[in-house]
Amino acid sequence: MPIEFAQRIRRIPSYPLATGYDLGADVAMLASNESCFGPLPEVVQAAQAVLSGTNRYPDPSYATLRRALAERYGVPADRIALGNGSCDILLAAGEALLEPGAELVYAWPAFSVYPHLAAASGARAIEVPLDGEDRHDLDAMLQEVTVATRLVLICNPNNPTSTAVGLDRVQAFLDEVPAHVCVILDEAYIEFSLTAGDPFASLELLRRHPNLVLLRTFSKVYGLAALRVGYALCGSEEFRIAVDQVRQPFYLGVAAQAAAVEALRHQDEVERRVGQTIAERLALVDALPSLGVWVAESDANFVWVRLPEGVDESDVVSGLAARGVLVRAGASLGREGALRVTVGTAKENARFAEALAALLRGA
Ligand SMILES: Cc1ncc(COP(=O)(O)O)c(C=O)c1O
Repeated sequence: MPIEFAQRIRRIPSYPLATGYDLGADVAMLASNESCFGPLPEVVQAAQAVLSGTNRYPDPSYATLRRALAERYGVPADRIALGNGSCDILLAAGEALLEPGAELVYAWPAFSVYPHLAAASGARAIEVPLDGEDRHDLDAMLQEVTVATRLVLICNPNNPTSTAVGLDRVQAFLDEVPAHVCVILDEAYIEFSLTAGDPFASLELLRRHPNLVLLRTFSKVYGLAALRVGYALCGSEEFRIAVDQVRQPFYLGVAAQAAAVEALRHQDEVERRVGQTIAERLALVDALPSLGVWVAESDANFVWVRLPEGVDESDVVSGLAARGVLVRAGASLGREGALRVTVGTAKENARFAEALAALLRGA
C-alpha cells in the first residue's frame, strides 16, 4: 500500500524548476533571474570566517543582521522578519494568515509560488488578470477585496512580466483596503526599478500602513541566491511574530547571515552593478522589437518578451537551449507565447538576441 498523504498535497502545484545547473560554463543561464555578478570577495570571506564556529547553533535572534537592516532602512529591528529566502517568509505568511473560508488576492501571471499559499491552506485564491501592458491592475484587484480577504500580494516589479506600478498607485490602493487585510508588497526586484523608485521610497508607505509588509531578498541584487536570505520590513511587529511562530527557530545558517551583513556594507558596488544591469536591460528592450516581438517595459533584472502570433514558444525555448541559452517559457509561468529572459552579461545578452533572431528568421 502506498503512503497516504494529506489531501492538501494533491492541491499544491509543483514549482516550475529551472534546469541546466549541470551544463557547465559555456551556457548563458538566463532562466532564473539571478545576478550575473558573483558575490564580492569580502562577502565570501565573511561567510568563510564563521565556518569554524559551526558546532554552535546560529544566534536564533539573528541580532546582527536585523540590526544592520534596521540601521539601513530606519525600521525597528522587532519589525524585521528574516527567512531562508523571501519565499520562506511568503509561505509562512500563508500559513499564519490563511485557512479555509479566507481569501487571498493577487494578480496573474505573477510569482509562481503565490498559488501555493491558497492550495496549502485551503483558502480561496482570487487571481486578477494583468492589464493590456502586463502590469498590475490595482483597481480590479481592489474590487476583489471582500470581508473574507486576509491577504493581498502585489508583486512590484512583477515576476514574470517585469513591469512595475508607481507608488502613488500603491498608496491609493492601500488607502482603500481595510486595515485588517495584510498587504505584502513583494519587492524582490525593487533595486532595479525606475518606476517604483529606490529601495527607500516604499518605506513612507510602511510608516502610514501598519498592515503593509515589504518583502525583499538578498538573492537578486546582492548575488546571494544560493545562500537563501530574505527579509521583510513590516508595518507592525505582529506580522514578524506570526511568521516566526509558524517556523522552526533556525531558518538561517551562520554563513548566510554573515554574508548578508557584509553585503550590506558594499552599497556603492551594488549600485554600480544595478546601473550596469539597467543599461543592459535598456539595450535589450530597445533592440528586441526589431525582431517582431513585443517587449514589456521592464523595471527588473529580466525582460518579458511576447512572441509573434503563430510562433511556437516551446520550439523557441528548445532552439535557444540548443544554442546554449537557457530562458523560461511563458507557459510554465502562467502565459503562453512568451519568454522570460534574465539580463545577463553583455556577451550573454548578445548571444540571446542573436539566437532569437536566427530562430525567428527560421535559420
Ligand atoms: C517576485 C519574487 N518574490 C520572491 C522570490 C523569492 O526569492 P528568494 O526566496 O530567493 O528570496 C522570487 C524569486 O525568484 C521572486 O521572483
